[in-house]
Amino acid sequence: MIGSANLSAWFPEGASTHAMGVDEPFYGIYVAAVCALILTVGLAVIFLWTFLRKKNDPDQMPSTGSNKILLGVWVLGAVLMAGFAFQSGIPGFVDQNVAPYGAYQVGVTTHESGWDFTYPNGHVADTLRVQVGQPVQLTMTSADVSQNLSIPALRVQQAILPGRTTEAWFEATSEGAFPIFTGSFSAMTHDSLSTALMALSEADFAAWLATVEDIFAGRTMAEVGELLYTSQGCAVCHTLDGNQLVGPSFKNVYGFEFLTTDGQTVLADDAYIKESILTPNVSVIDGFQPVMTPYAGVLDDREIEAITAFLMTQSERGDTGGHSEADPANESGTAPEGDTDQEEK
Ligand code: HEC
Repeated sequence: MIGSANLSAWFPEGASTHAMGVDEPFYGIYVAAVCALILTVGLAVIFLWTFLRKKNDPDQMPSTGSNKILLGVWVLGAVLMAGFAFQSGIPGFVDQNVAPYGAYQVGVTTHESGWDFTYPNGHVADTLRVQVGQPVQLTMTSADVSQNLSIPALRVQQAILPGRTTEAWFEATSEGAFPIFTGSFSAMTHDSLSTALMALSEADFAAWLATVEDIFAGRTMAEVGELLYTSQGCAVCHTLDGNQLVGPSFKNVYGFEFLTTDGQTVLADDAYIKESILTPNVSVIDGFQPVMTPYAGVLDDREIEAITAFLMTQSERGDTGGHSEADPANESGTAPEGDTDQEEK
């Protein structure tokens, strides 16, 4: 065949099983079209030359009849070419539209600020990681405007529409990072929405999945806490810089004392922080509304320990030296027990 997946004049080198089905018809039709162009323009030039009426030449009369055989050949050639284009394109088209049974499922949502790729285990990422040799099916929708998913190296192109789901599938054939572009059909341009597809080996993909499944892997307790602070929405109400939003800032909370609405003084130690997260409205800090969502059933003990470790890093009194390790159980001894320090918020 004339086209091959490695001809990269028009496309980046093919990195998926779709490459053949797209590139072969493309180059086939391309070459056929160039041949037809050369034939028609060439014949036109030859005829112009041969049949140009010479000056004062009475013999040269315009042709009257037509050559039925030539006409038939021409029509037949055109029909054959259209048939060839259809026949070479249809297998790739069907292949692109029918995902193999059992394909790895990834949910895709595009929105104003980027991409969300949701994996079967619930992990959400802004880049798409897949395993080489494994068919992947994307089920896509848009939270706002119409978008277009385009992964040139994988020959994947599909519209993403608000209020509808569209699908695309592919099987990556080589490892590497490939750009994902979006063409927006709206007036806005979304250059910033480009992201990347990482095609990983089976071992690398499994290793990556293991780290995203376990947020504690490879992180200190405080780092996990910081992750939870943003992923669980605490940041919406609690700042880290001392500014007050809906809730008190997390700056200098750990180890400090606070007045509650019922006139009691509480020390923000491990136990109080745990209580504040699980049942925040039992003891409400003075000057605030009891609007914090209880996290009982959402965060487990280890995650609360991680948040506590993170809060220590945000407090002048949280520094006990060893709390960023995975055992924050015994820091309360260093908290200023008899301190009368009253934080006015
Ligand atoms: C909807 C806003 C909101 C969200 C989200 C929120 N909080 Fe709160 N939080 C508050 C408010 C308001 C208070 C003060 C009133 C009270 O004690 O219930 C508070 C109090 C606290 C306190 C006690 C602070 C002190 O000064 O003693 C802690 C600890 C706390 N929140 C942790 C968290 C953590 C951890 C998260 C995320 C997992 C979180 N909050 C999410 C609003 C929120």
